[in-house]
Amino acid sequence: MKKTAIVYYSKHHGNTKKLLDAIKSFDPDLELIDVTEKPEANLTEYDRIGFASGAYYSKFAEQLLNFAKVNLPEQKGVFFICTAGNPVKVYFNAIADITAEKQCNELGRYMCKGFDTFGPFKLVGGIQKGHPTEDEISGAVEFYKNL
Ligand SMILES: Cc1cc2nc3c(=O)[nH]c(=O)nc-3n(C[C@H](O)[C@H](O)[C@H](O)COP(=O)(O)O)c2cc1C
Repeated sequence: MKKTAIVYYSKHHGNTKKLLDAIKSFDPDLELIDVTEKPEANLTEYDRIGFASGAYYSKFAEQLLNFAKVNLPEQKGVFFICTAGNPVKVYFNAIADITAEKQCNELGRYMCKGFDTFGPFKLVGGIQKGHPTEDEISGAVEFYKNL
């Protein structure tokens, strides 16, 4: 059995964490690492390392990007999970550049909508209310199963 860890940043509404909790229920051996509690970690023992984040200013949270730069060993299998108010693929670019520089093998990407009350959206009660939905959450579990 492959050892897997997911390092995450999920501070806006815990949207991304909802996906991870569902994945963890499916695979109790999965290690979840909150980057805000653990700025450094030894990841050498893991075969697969996921990075999961809400989108912040069109990329993964800066703290998570820094974590990857410092702690990701070379030549690991990696995958990415993202929630966003306005999901677009470019949000993966910064994290994918970092993992590529470390000659990691990308296994997949999953993205869905996440409730967003940032900035002007607060005035209208937020956008993407109710996201991630049950379907989006089970989609994340399916994604993980198929890695
Ligand atoms: C400071 C800040 C910046 C954000 N920037 C973006 C963005 O550039 N694009 C986007 O689609 N959503 C953006 N969002 C919305 C979040 O990506 C979205 O709500 C996400 O689901 C939050 O994930 P989390 O609850 O796991 O932290 C931003 C939210 C905050 C608080």
